[in-house]
Amino acid sequence: MKSFYITTAIDYANGSPHLGHAYEKVLTDVIARFRRQMGDTVHFLTGTDEHGQKVQASARKQGIEPQAYVDKVSAEFQALCARLEISNTDFIRTTEPRHKQVVRDILQKLFDQGEIYEAEYRGFYSTRQEQFLQEKDRLPDGSWPEIFGEVSEIVEKNYFFRLKKYQEWLIEHLNSHPDFIFPKYRQKQVLEFLKEPLNDLCISRPRERLEWGIALPFAENYVTYVWFDALLNYYSAVVDKGLWPADFNVIGKDILVPPHAVYWPIMLHACGLPPPKALLVHGWWLQGGAKMSKSTGEVVNPLSLVDQFGVDAFRYFLIREMNVGQDSEFTVEQFLVRYNSELANNLGNLVNRTLNMATRFAAGVLPAAEVTEDAERELQALWTKTHAELVPLCEGFQFHTAIERTMVFVTATNAYIEKRAPWKLGKSEAPADQALLRTSLATMAEALRLAVAALQHVTPSTTVKINAVLGYTPGPDWRAELAWGAKLNGAKVAPALVLFPRPTPPAATAPGKA
Ligand code: MSP
Repeated sequence: MKSFYITTAIDYANGSPHLGHAYEKVLTDVIARFRRQMGDTVHFLTGTDEHGQKVQASARKQGIEPQAYVDKVSAEFQALCARLEISNTDFIRTTEPRHKQVVRDILQKLFDQGEIYEAEYRGFYSTRQEQFLQEKDRLPDGSWPEIFGEVSEIVEKNYFFRLKKYQEWLIEHLNSHPDFIFPKYRQKQVLEFLKEPLNDLCISRPRERLEWGIALPFAENYVTYVWFDALLNYYSAVVDKGLWPADFNVIGKDILVPPHAVYWPIMLHACGLPPPKALLVHGWWLQGGAKMSKSTGEVVNPLSLVDQFGVDAFRYFLIREMNVGQDSEFTVEQFLVRYNSELANNLGNLVNRTLNMATRFAAGVLPAAEVTEDAERELQALWTKTHAELVPLCEGFQFHTAIERTMVFVTATNAYIEKRAPWKLGKSEAPADQALLRTSLATMAEALRLAVAALQHVTPSTTVKINAVLGYTPGPDWRAELAWGAKLNGAKVAPALVLFPRPTPPAATAPGKA
């Protein structure tokens, strides 16, 4: 079995999770589940980024110790993962000893190799972004952009990592690995960024300025720059498992350049380790055209949507709506449109009809198909086409299109039912009508089985529930499950299943706000 190692970014433990964090976990989970269905052994890591200025400041604001604060916030992120049915196999916290030890070992190694040196630094520092700024960061009028918050000039001794030394290596690596970053056009942006000379990276913060971090092993009065600490989580979590390099680090576009596309591969290379095989970069959920973010405005609380509509409706919406790599505006109206038209009316309707008619006309036992006419041939041909597209679409992260195609097939199945009108056939005693009736019951049930197999990585619980009411236990080979067959012959179906209930009107007008 092929092993597949995938990670999400680790979330800052300085506030509650919002829809953007939830999306990244769901997207990564959909990939992880898809890879498992394809037969891989998947290691799936997520976690929380618990050191640094922002976390220290948030803890102070609440008047509690940073450790107590991050314990609380990390627990919230872990609870979110459970609620979203994220199939992660590990959850790393950067305050755990297993992580801190690896960070210190790597720092010591790089220091011993001469990759880290001490120098005096004078510069303009943004507390909010925890970074030194450059002249080119200024606005035309000389002031600093709003996103940097308060900026002050400081002079201090610090430790620097020789980033510049590896600039040519990184350019060469990107050129020789054109698929390092998905989507591809982002790789060009990184190469564009690398046309300017890199500066060495300041990787220390004096303790007087920041206490909450990992002490440098060779200078205990300094703590490690939070990005240098955080990036190493992907490695520290698997150091004893032999799983490095990761197949994918999944991240949002805001943390590609420079942390993941520049610091990270260079840090690894300087340690003699290979870079991740690829970075998967998703876009942002927007609200009113701006990135949904706690620091800039209102955010959508994923849990309130899950409570109201169920976890699979939430997962379905995120994956159906977002084209991986691009941005998407979040609105409750759009959520409701997809919920009602695609889940409740389309898929939900097919489930209801299948169960209801099998119960009414076949005493709940699915018959075998006996007739193949144009109506059946057309539906099967549509499935053949859909089936052929599914795996390549998912392998290319085009999950939204894979879902769309599947839903077209569900729509066609509902149209097939309209055409066959089993409720009319059921009233006739003519043997030809009875044969058509049995055929239509078998066909709609088989089509439903296939559709929910195709949605399995997106809506895992719904797939389980629908298979259960169809009296069906899928085999271990997911790809084999995608073939049109006669798998449901004789299956005993349940009389009903409520899957996507109509939302109650008052809640439907104001869900989702944190
Ligand atoms: N702690 C760093 C990541 C360190 S990884 C070694 C961080 N944390 S974060 O909490 O700000 O963001 C975590 C992830 O959520 C990032 O990949 C980020 O892009 C993603 N999102 C945060 N807001 C988002 C949206 N509005 N939309 C989609 N994803 C966004 O960055």
